[in-house]
Amino acid sequence: MTAVEEPSASTGEQHIQPRLLIEEWLPAAAIGVECIRERSTGQQPPHARLHVWWARRPLAASRAAVLASVLPADFDRATFERLLGFDAPSEAIVRGQELLQWARTVGRQVPNPHGKRAFSNTLPEPHLNAAHHAMKQLWGELPAVIDPMAGGGSIPLESARLGLPTVANEYNPVACAVLEATVDYPFRFGPELAERARKWGSILRERFVQRMQRFYPDVGALPTHTYIFARTVPCPDTGAPTPLVPDWHLSKPKSGTHIVAEPVVDHAAKSWTVRIREIGRAAGQLPAAPKPTYVRGKATSIFTGAVIDGEYIKAMAKQGKLGSQLYAVVLKGAQGLDYRPAEHADLDAIAAAEAELARLRPTWERDNIIPTELYPRVSSELRPLQYGMPRWADMFSPRQLLAMGVLVEELRNLRPEILEAEGEEQGRAVEHLLAFVLDKFLNHNALLASWDSGTYGIRSVFDRHDFSFKPTPAEMAPCGAGAGLEWALGNVLKSWRELAELPRTGQMATTRITLGSATNLASVADASLTAVVVDPPYADNVQYSELADFFYVWLKRTVGHQHPDWFSSYLCDHSEEAVVNATRFVPDFDPDVKLPTGAKAAAKREAEAFYRDLMVQAFREAHRILRDDGVLTVMFTHKQQSAWESLFGALLEAGFVITATWPVKTESETSLHIASKNAAESTVILVARKRPAGAGIGYFTQEMKDRIRAVAKASAECLRNDGLNAVDQLVGSFGPAMEVFSRYREVRRDTGELVGIAEALDEASDAVVQWRVEKLMARGTGAELAGVEPMGRYLVLCWDVLAAAEFRFNEAKLLGHAVGLSPEDLVKAGLAVRKSQNIVLLPARDRRRDQAILAGNIPTAAQAKQLHPNDAEFRSAADAAHALAIAHADAGGGAAGIGAARALANRHNWRESSAVARLVQALVLSAPKGVQVEGKGITAKYPEFLAWHSLLQPLWGVTPPDWSEQEPVHRQFPGFATGAFVPEDEDADDEDIEDDESGDD
Ligand SMILES: C[S@@+](CC[C@H](N)C(=O)[O-])C[C@H]1O[C@@H](n2cnc3c(N)ncnc32)[C@H](O)[C@@H]1O
Repeated sequence: MTAVEEPSASTGEQHIQPRLLIEEWLPAAAIGVECIRERSTGQQPPHARLHVWWARRPLAASRAAVLASVLPADFDRATFERLLGFDAPSEAIVRGQELLQWARTVGRQVPNPHGKRAFSNTLPEPHLNAAHHAMKQLWGELPAVIDPMAGGGSIPLESARLGLPTVANEYNPVACAVLEATVDYPFRFGPELAERARKWGSILRERFVQRMQRFYPDVGALPTHTYIFARTVPCPDTGAPTPLVPDWHLSKPKSGTHIVAEPVVDHAAKSWTVRIREIGRAAGQLPAAPKPTYVRGKATSIFTGAVIDGEYIKAMAKQGKLGSQLYAVVLKGAQGLDYRPAEHADLDAIAAAEAELARLRPTWERDNIIPTELYPRVSSELRPLQYGMPRWADMFSPRQLLAMGVLVEELRNLRPEILEAEGEEQGRAVEHLLAFVLDKFLNHNALLASWDSGTYGIRSVFDRHDFSFKPTPAEMAPCGAGAGLEWALGNVLKSWRELAELPRTGQMATTRITLGSATNLASVADASLTAVVVDPPYADNVQYSELADFFYVWLKRTVGHQHPDWFSSYLCDHSEEAVVNATRFVPDFDPDVKLPTGAKAAAKREAEAFYRDLMVQAFREAHRILRDDGVLTVMFTHKQQSAWESLFGALLEAGFVITATWPVKTESETSLHIASKNAAESTVILVARKRPAGAGIGYFTQEMKDRIRAVAKASAECLRNDGLNAVDQLVGSFGPAMEVFSRYREVRRDTGELVGIAEALDEASDAVVQWRVEKLMARGTGAELAGVEPMGRYLVLCWDVLAAAEFRFNEAKLLGHAVGLSPEDLVKAGLAVRKSQNIVLLPARDRRRDQAILAGNIPTAAQAKQLHPNDAEFRSAADAAHALAIAHADAGGGAAGIGAARALANRHNWRESSAVARLVQALVLSAPKGVQVEGKGITAKYPEFLAWHSLLQPLWGVTPPDWSEQEPVHRQFPGFATGAFVPEDEDADDEDIEDDESGDD
């Protein structure tokens, strides 16, 4: 897609800025493929494995955004692609991915069509020289790039790797510490630093093991791997500690024997232990896992069977009465993991550790070794308070806290030795990396980390982006060889070494890290930088500072002395954090008091206004520091129109004009996945320039509306050809619409009234939806949707455009415009249900009523939402289509099913020309791939599509589309015929908990 050219505004001036590559061309589809490959299982880029940070952007998209923003429009495209790290021309990369996707859909093995992943590919010096030369010609110097909200550093890392002078600014000190290790140390110290840190890390570990080994005894011959605990609550009737265990499985492999802990209750002693059992039918095996004792926040007493409600559990937690009992120990056997119940020696060691902590605690609190800070009482995440963790130190069991305290103390003891041996600068860097080892350790060794019986590993605290209560915490055995602390050390240093070894130019430029708000970049002079490239936070997606406090309280104690300016506050500052956090706007917020009706909504409104204001200020600041010919490039990952409205609004208000937009698909869509939930993300790269001083007033005339509609439709068409899904086509059309709208200082009606962005975006979405409807109607054999009532058309649009059974309410609302209905109408008609922010289309069988409503009987509202094939009448073609599917299923499908459906159609006279026949055809034509094949999951849930497909010919003589396996692209790959090897698991979801800590929006 090229940036849309707009005739000059009547009162405006044309841009004085020379056109940039990003304003003309970007191989967005291939960049998307590289983003997907970057996230493949267990192989995240090293910087993302180094330390947790949330909502990281892929390096491939970040580099593209930086590089294309500072190169001229006529820069050689092949050289540019090579500089992006592409191993092949962009078209070949896209075709290769299509092949992989196809292979996955049909379960075939194909040779891997891809080369090295872009972020890890070499950066040839001659190509870099050519780029630097072109940049200098364009800007008169090497362009300076700033990311004012740099987070985990993807953007500045890529800028620095390209050899550009770079500034990475962040508001959060934990992110600054991450940035220092990511965009500074690798360039200053090279990979060798990892070896220096390994040496000191081993010494640290030795000292730790010496002090701590006795608290983790190995019972028996096998070394311990993990301890699994159950949180307990006093049983209301007996007072005995009853366990909160949602799943007694210890190991649940996809194939192979499942192993469980079976609770054994001693009523007399008011205690319980477990037996380790296999699940199966053989003698001595259990037929099924024992019943959980904790489901959806409610417990069942193991002693009495009585249900214990959530409020009681929280009340006990607040009184400090939530206990913790070790019940299973995971051992490292020669053949894999083994399990045993807790033994006395284990329990004695835990008690000894608790006593040792009690002995050391007063000194440690005095010397600031362990965090005494209170968990904030104003927070969007109140679970730590509700579950008995009023201080940050309470997020650890006594033994875990003892381990952390020993580590902090020993790191401090080691400091003078490190500095003496390594020198001040390198010594500080070593210390910093060791502090990250402690962070890695604590993320896997807290009460909020838990055992995952599916992957046989520990789920880290930030496996989820919150502080949710973990009823069965897990604790690492930290002293073992290759495990615990040694694992953390190896993991961090491996990531860091790989990070330092990432290919980069030999021509080093300076990278500066600054802490502060993007709204006030005091150290940056006016009009001094060429490019601002930024990936701003969006609303309440991630509460960065609330989460980062978990690390802040420890980093303060490990490396705080290196940066007193970063680590001198009680917790992370959040007064200027650009997020929507409603709790901060509730007057005298009290976590124990339920908010009066309306108070939350009012606070949310204030929080939104605050966020928007900060975004405007941040963009104004970007405007101030940019050269007049400079460029602002924004990476943004949200689908809701409201998100776009506030982003565009802030940009326009800050004095920018949108000049290009590029949706980059950063997540893969396997057809089955996309049909179950419309969840795939794409990042939009949006380009803006300073609005010329003379830009005047535009008028929202029919001509402007037509122009908006035309560019929106053209861009959607382009994006469709690039393989982006329908929602991305819609979102992708917003940018071009804004390119038309933002040329003017303001846009008004003839009457003088101001026109808001929402209207322009509505115009764009309406044009795209209409275009989709036209496409749908033109497709296939006479599926004339025009005669079908709006409800049926709405249903078709949802399947066709959103290609999923579940999608966001707002997206459904957008589509509804095209047919004059809203998602609530779908719900009222019984065709869908609302699930929080989403809408779920109901399968036909979920709508089946037991009894038919016969002629003359009036159904109740609830009955009217359901169907029976023998109902006397059907309210809509959509209901009739579902009734046909139900009749087909009731008769057992196949020939009998067709017969039953035919009888129903005959009874109601649904001939070939009827609305029902046309709707069924349209539904078949709009069926997403995932429902076109027999199978499990989503296919099994919506078998009506296969039923409708089988009815077209026998009922109405219509030839159905071919849903047999298609092999779209494989023939283009000569090596394919052999099917020789499995592709690397290129775009599977990230499941590797130990390696994946990067988080995501
Ligand atoms: C989406 S994240 C950036 C992620 C980053 N691009 C990466 O790949 O890791 C947005 C960042 O903005 C930061 N932030 C929030 N408010 C800010 C402000 N007022 N000034 C600067 N940074 C801010 C957050 O701390 C967060 O790290």
